[in-house]
Amino acid sequence: MKRIILHILIIFSVSAYGQIPNNLPDFFKDVSDPDTQMWEEIYRPQILKTFSNEVYGNIPSGFDPKVSFRVEEEEHNALNGVANRKQVIITLETEEGKSLEMGLLIYLPEKHEGKIPVFLGLNSIGNHTIHPDPAIFLHKNWCRNRESMGITENKAVEISRGKVVSRWPVEYILSRGYGIATVYYGDIDPDFDDGYKNGLHGLMYNDENIRNPLTDAGSVAAWAYGLSKVLDYFEEDENIDSDRVAVFGHSRRGKATLWAGASDQRFAITISNNSGCGGAALSMRKHGETVKRINTSFPHWFCDNFKKYNDNEENLPVDQHMLLGLIAPRPVYVASAEDDDLADPRGEQLSVFLASEIYDLYNLKTCVKKTKAVINSPVKKGLVGYHIRTGKHDLMAYDWEQYLDFADRYLQK
Ligand code: GCU
Repeated sequence: MKRIILHILIIFSVSAYGQIPNNLPDFFKDVSDPDTQMWEEIYRPQILKTFSNEVYGNIPSGFDPKVSFRVEEEEHNALNGVANRKQVIITLETEEGKSLEMGLLIYLPEKHEGKIPVFLGLNSIGNHTIHPDPAIFLHKNWCRNRESMGITENKAVEISRGKVVSRWPVEYILSRGYGIATVYYGDIDPDFDDGYKNGLHGLMYNDENIRNPLTDAGSVAAWAYGLSKVLDYFEEDENIDSDRVAVFGHSRRGKATLWAGASDQRFAITISNNSGCGGAALSMRKHGETVKRINTSFPHWFCDNFKKYNDNEENLPVDQHMLLGLIAPRPVYVASAEDDDLADPRGEQLSVFLASEIYDLYNLKTCVKKTKAVINSPVKKGLVGYHIRTGKHDLMAYDWEQYLDFADRYLQK
């Protein structure tokens, strides 16, 4: 019954607002009364596979590098006594001896009882940019030149230490009882079109294992894979509660975060900050960044099959509300910004609303409505959260405030 009402609502919204695309793919083809068993056994696996084959690409099935962890540095009472800082090197190594190192920076609250819930997110320039802490290592990988960060030779530099603190309120997160952990996303896969030679892709292929461009992982899927490897480490760390990890990400890293949350069900909460096209926004709305535009500007992000939908979104077999549905019944939070038209805030909200169909199947409460969300009025109750705040494409204190409140409902005992 609920499902019928939801469909009437969707049809109504097409005619009344013209905002939900007409031919949006349905979670359940030809089934009028689905249940959770059907979802878990038939439809969820199919939709997951379709996202792998048509959007993000697959990690080759035989790819199974040895993963090892090395605590390179640890200090108690760091950050004026409030943090236990750890820097861990995660090494991936193939049988033929190719390897990749990811530098994981972790701050845990110094005072705590038992295992600690953690926020995990990739950063855009380097671990050393998230906090002025002089002990944070600089990475040795490629990074984009940016004058504002003093980066001119595609290398991490001391000048950018602490430059993105506004996105990483470390002490505040610790004071709320969470740890915070991050990896530079370029440690996993450098963010340029390198013909899939470097980073994680460099480990996947050799003369025998050739990349299938149509269906093999692009960079977004590689970043998501890296997030899962961090979770593997958390399972080994006696201070971290790997069952209480909130994975979050801004923008392109928000896309990777959603794919990580959808494809790895160990993540307890998934948070997308301004992820837009290829993230939370509905592609079929063709509002803001389109599939063609993203595939043209960033040809290495998705698998080549996704390019079939350039100027052809209506033929997509899945849309991004289904990605959010794959995260159900675990909590998911999506955030938009008013001046971030490129990411289609309205398309992000509708996506959240439509994903509620799967939470409904589980009889779980969701509160995000179809009607246009009110600016700066977060919906934090229920399993799916959403807000649109004033301001531009960014990750801000306001966003963190909501994420922490949302996480408290599920991760604080
Ligand atoms: C570009 C890109 C977006 C992406 C953003 C970012 O604007 O078009 O898809 O989200 O970069 O990562 O900041």
